[in-house]
Amino acid sequence: MAQGIRNLLGLRDLEPEGITEILDTARSFREVLERPIKKVPTLQGTTVVNLFFESSTRTRISFELAERRLSADVVNFAASGSSVSKGETLKDTARNIEAMKTDIVVVRHSSTGAPHFLSRLLKSPVINAGDGINEHPTQGLLDMFTMREKLGELKGLNVCIVGDITHSRVARSNIFGLTKLGANVAVCGPKTLIPGYLEQFGVKVFFDIDDAIQWADVLNVLRIQLEREAGGDFPTIREYRLYWGVNRSRLEKSKKSIVIMHPGPINRGVELDADVADGETSVILDQVTNGVAVRMAVLYLTGLPTPKPSFGLEQAGAKAS
Ligand code: CP
Repeated sequence: MAQGIRNLLGLRDLEPEGITEILDTARSFREVLERPIKKVPTLQGTTVVNLFFESSTRTRISFELAERRLSADVVNFAASGSSVSKGETLKDTARNIEAMKTDIVVVRHSSTGAPHFLSRLLKSPVINAGDGINEHPTQGLLDMFTMREKLGELKGLNVCIVGDITHSRVARSNIFGLTKLGANVAVCGPKTLIPGYLEQFGVKVFFDIDDAIQWADVLNVLRIQLEREAGGDFPTIREYRLYWGVNRSRLEKSKKSIVIMHPGPINRGVELDADVADGETSVILDQVTNGVAVRMAVLYLTGLPTPKPSFGLEQAGAKAS
């Protein structure tokens, strides 16, 4: 029986009960963030290492804040300025840091599967902070937490993810998590940025943003990932904005008020107009706040010395002993 080490590698392998457990636990930590002293002793004596091999603002700071709010000791590693520039491998980097007696590893990497690889290698629990175009499970969880907070139950909710679906780990984690909890999920964007396999997960596909807006309760708008070569999949940024950009005049055609989400960073005026990003139905900054609570919940659950019933939280790489 797998025991002792629990990882969060993705939402694909979690049972609905496991996802619900994290979201419910996060609700308690969200309340902690409203207190004058936003700190609890839960992870006192635990050392968490944040291994960031790829750029990040929100996820890196959010994990660090979550760790500090739980009273953990925090070590931050960034690939730039490290011995990675001298040719040190991911394996050697992670094992050397763990040899200094760290307890939990958070990792972001541009290669799909890097957290899974580390979970097979290390004794510590591994939390995926985004791996290539695979998954970004804590982003998926904080998006779901925010939808529950704003709109109640996820079951039956119409959520449309708009934009560069092919290159988006956020889209994949949202699709896995939301469908497991009973939401109706759609995607919308240029045909060249929507993978063909999505319908097997029960995902509806829109190519026309106006049709998507008529259908949706929530639009989760994604950035065009030019660094992952998405720019070659449509003619120009101007054309993208014209056909798929979310703006006020499009939203005003809907009879209902649509919740606007974005994982950040935003390309203002490309996938989302600034007045909508900052408008009354935008919950983008609430997502960021909730991210700290969700990451506190994930760290708490992976840091438990004795595993609770797993609900799928033990995943590939959990060590048997
Ligand atoms: N949402 C998100 O992953 O943002 P960062 O890349 O800034 O961490």
